[in-house]
Amino acid sequence: MEYIKTLKNSQDYINTELEYGAHHCRTIPVVLTRGEGVYVYDVEGKRYYDFLSGYSSVNQGHCHPKILNVLINQAKTLAACSRAFYSSTLGICERYLCQTFGYDKVLMMNSGAEANETAYKLCRKWGYEVKKIPENMAKIIVCKNNFAGRTIACISCSNYINCTKNFGPFVPNFIKVEYNNAEALENELKDFNVCAFIVEPVQGEAGVIIPSNTYFKKVQELCKKYNVLFVADEVQTALGRTGNLLSLQRYNVKPDITLLGKALSGGFYPISAILANNNIMLLLKPGEHGSTYGGNPLAAAIAIEAVDVIIKEKLCEKSEKLGKIFLNALRVYLQKSQIIKDIRGLGLMCAIEFKKEFTNMWNLCLKLKENGLVTMYVHERTIRLTPPLCITQEQLDECVQIILKTVRHFDNNVPEYANSCKPVLQN
Ligand SMILES: Cc1ncc(COP(=O)(O)O)c(C=O)c1O
Repeated sequence: MEYIKTLKNSQDYINTELEYGAHHCRTIPVVLTRGEGVYVYDVEGKRYYDFLSGYSSVNQGHCHPKILNVLINQAKTLAACSRAFYSSTLGICERYLCQTFGYDKVLMMNSGAEANETAYKLCRKWGYEVKKIPENMAKIIVCKNNFAGRTIACISCSNYINCTKNFGPFVPNFIKVEYNNAEALENELKDFNVCAFIVEPVQGEAGVIIPSNTYFKKVQELCKKYNVLFVADEVQTALGRTGNLLSLQRYNVKPDITLLGKALSGGFYPISAILANNNIMLLLKPGEHGSTYGGNPLAAAIAIEAVDVIIKEKLCEKSEKLGKIFLNALRVYLQKSQIIKDIRGLGLMCAIEFKKEFTNMWNLCLKLKENGLVTMYVHERTIRLTPPLCITQEQLDECVQIILKTVRHFDNNVPEYANSCKPVLQN
């Protein structure tokens, strides 16, 4: 790693990335070099609260020592061996995940996009072999404004211009319905050729859009009624982010297939998983699906520890409790702001949406960074506030102060942080 030390400062690192890397991301000009718990540090040594958490992959906190330990030990023993052979970690991981999440079977993959791709294949196969949809006619219903990843099939589900423009032609037979609209869903479910409905419990990339409390119960009923598989894309929402191990547990709903990713690795390594019962998963026969790294021994060992940390450290409970306190505090202080449209969240998956007239989102993120908190905005209006779930109430309190100070820079209707309001933060 000697060569890394040849770069002098943040600007050097940025210039190097710009010169040698593809320019496919919008990136805040901060060069991170170290992470610990809720904090990340830049190359000049400045500390920030991380309010993006690697797009919710670091729910357990940066460089969690227990997960790190498992990673190191397993990496020293056996890291990759392909699925041509059994390994001494995979079955144990599979049993742990099935028992923890309440499904018969799990199929391990790597990215969230790959989990979605696997679900498309599995649902189509079920459609042909169980529901008896005529060959090549299967349709999958998805929601408008969803995000499933960046592969061709995943972007075929998308209606966002920056996901789709000049990337066509797209995979046919993805039908888009309005999110949080059971009636619109029912209209499409009537088509016999529909094999599945895939939905995010909260639409993260769309700006943390939370449906009504009754939506998913209704979805479950409708999917049963029309003999269509109900698939929850919990890649972002699960593992404590919204206050439960699985977000849909909140509504007492159990989909036929659940997709996990991101925090399944504690932010160390790409790992995803598809959970289903035997009647669906066993439709896949040897040789019909796979991925070189899917379910490798390193991933299997890490996934067990990553989930175990969430359970043992009560991160779901913390997320639920602190999320409410955080939103309450933001609402109290920011209610008079002229630039804010909405403050919302579920657990510690929170967001502030700004009004259309406020066109300074980039500068807002830069100001947040200057004040010691890093995050990013989505769809020109909404900043995501998704800290690692190991954050303490005191740290969250400091973050409220940073956010207020930052918003006040753009809108002086926002009051100064006052200790007299502090009880608001104390549940
Ligand atoms: C709900 C959801 N599904 C799938 C994905 C894609 O995951 P990945 O980037 O690991 O492919 C994301 C990523 O943000 C997501 O939020």
